[in-house]
Amino acid sequence: MTTTSDIHNNPPYAIEIENLTVRYGNKDILKNINLKIKYGDFLAIIGPNGSGKTTLLKAILRIIKPDCGTIKIFGEEDINKIITKIGYVPQRLGFEKTLSITVREFLALRLPKTKNWFFHRFKFIDEKLKIARLGVTELLEKPLYLLSGGELQRVLIAFSLLGEPELLLLDEATEGVDFTAENLIYESLATLRKQIGLTVILVSHDLSMVSRQATNVVALSNGVVCCEGSPSEVYQSLNKAYGAHFITYSHHH
Ligand SMILES: Nc1ncnc2c1ncn2[C@@H]1O[C@H](COP(=O)(O)OP(=O)(O)O)[C@@H](O)[C@H]1O
Ligand SMILES: [Mg+2]
Repeated sequence: MTTTSDIHNNPPYAIEIENLTVRYGNKDILKNINLKIKYGDFLAIIGPNGSGKTTLLKAILRIIKPDCGTIKIFGEEDINKIITKIGYVPQRLGFEKTLSITVREFLALRLPKTKNWFFHRFKFIDEKLKIARLGVTELLEKPLYLLSGGELQRVLIAFSLLGEPELLLLDEATEGVDFTAENLIYESLATLRKQIGLTVILVSHDLSMVSRQATNVVALSNGVVCCEGSPSEVYQSLNKAYGAHFITYSHHH
């Protein structure tokens, strides 16, 4: 497989995290996290509520400043140098949903050629979306405030992919998305991983989806990595430690 790493002769890891600690006040939220993620990997981060999953994504993006440790993305410690290569769909968007713009106008903001022409109609968004194959074409003329929660998530994922990221961070991004649309999303992520070596980090409670899609899993508990490996390795050792209770926290459609 040709990956971004081969093309650009980049370092072997898309992301390297060493001794990462994040504190809120005097409470350690993430404690001494070490992670290496290869180009084109699909890493799923799982763990109970409050275990630090969102904080880890925010630290990777430097939305939160780490108290200790280093984070390199594409070999670079300075986030400003690679920020345009990163797509991010946050868990909860501080988003003015009553904003009276259509999905088409919103998505146009993400494209260099159309971002300054806000209120015009653009055929080529349809072209791009066909490529992304996220099934949002039928939503294009809808105002954002009429979208259901799941539809809004689909639009936000399409928005992040229009930026053609090399690294995509998704924080419970398919919450509320129906099964068919969810499959379209994961199919297009798999295609992008093959085609451009897209690296994906995803936070999810949906263990069956994680076992189908992820190449690697990291389980967080109380701000530490309690388990990591392939989905089956991680599930087996969590099952040993927590038994059937663990499985019941899987999310069902
Ligand atoms: N801005 C904040 N100030 C103080 N504590 C926070 C803040 N954001 C998150 N926390 C705490 O950090 C811990 C981890 O939160 P978070 O990363 O959101 O967990 P998860 O995404 O795994 O549910 C929780 O105990 C949460 O209460
Ligand atoms: Mg979270």
